[in-house]
Amino acid sequence: MHTPALTFPASLVLIAGLAAAPALAAPAKPAKLGLCSACHGVDGISRTPGTPHLAGQDRVYLERALSDYRSGKRQHVPMTSLANALQPRDIQALAAWYAAQPGFVKGSGR
Ligand code: HEC
Repeated sequence: MHTPALTFPASLVLIAGLAAAPALAAPAKPAKLGLCSACHGVDGISRTPGTPHLAGQDRVYLERALSDYRSGKRQHVPMTSLANALQPRDIQALAAWYAAQPGFVKGSGR
């Protein structure tokens, strides 16, 4: 048996998997999103001066930032107390949510 006979069906499976990926990858709305949306927006686009946009940010970075606020390694008045109300699973859900949102584009009106 030679390679093309194997790769043809394999690539069909891959294409089907890629087509399905966006729907599967979209994270569920986190239970604690309401704690964050006043400042960071549901979509991760800040409407408040001094508040960073989170949309499209690296998921692992967001998890680390929230864990660092929670542990006290990183200190900032609203975030430290907010992160104390989060369990590790909340941090994972919120980081996945904000990482999956379309990133901020300056001048786009978002
Ligand atoms: C009262 C307004 C407010 C609320 C509510 C709030 N944040 Fe923040 N958040 C901020 C501000 C201001 C900063 C910048 C803090 C700093 O300089 O460290 C920040 C920083 C962050 C960062 C670090 C961003 C970076 O680029 O390093 C993350 C992640 C974050 N917030 C997630 C959340 C999540 C998740 C929630 C909900 C549980 C939340 N925030 C609720 C105001 C808020």
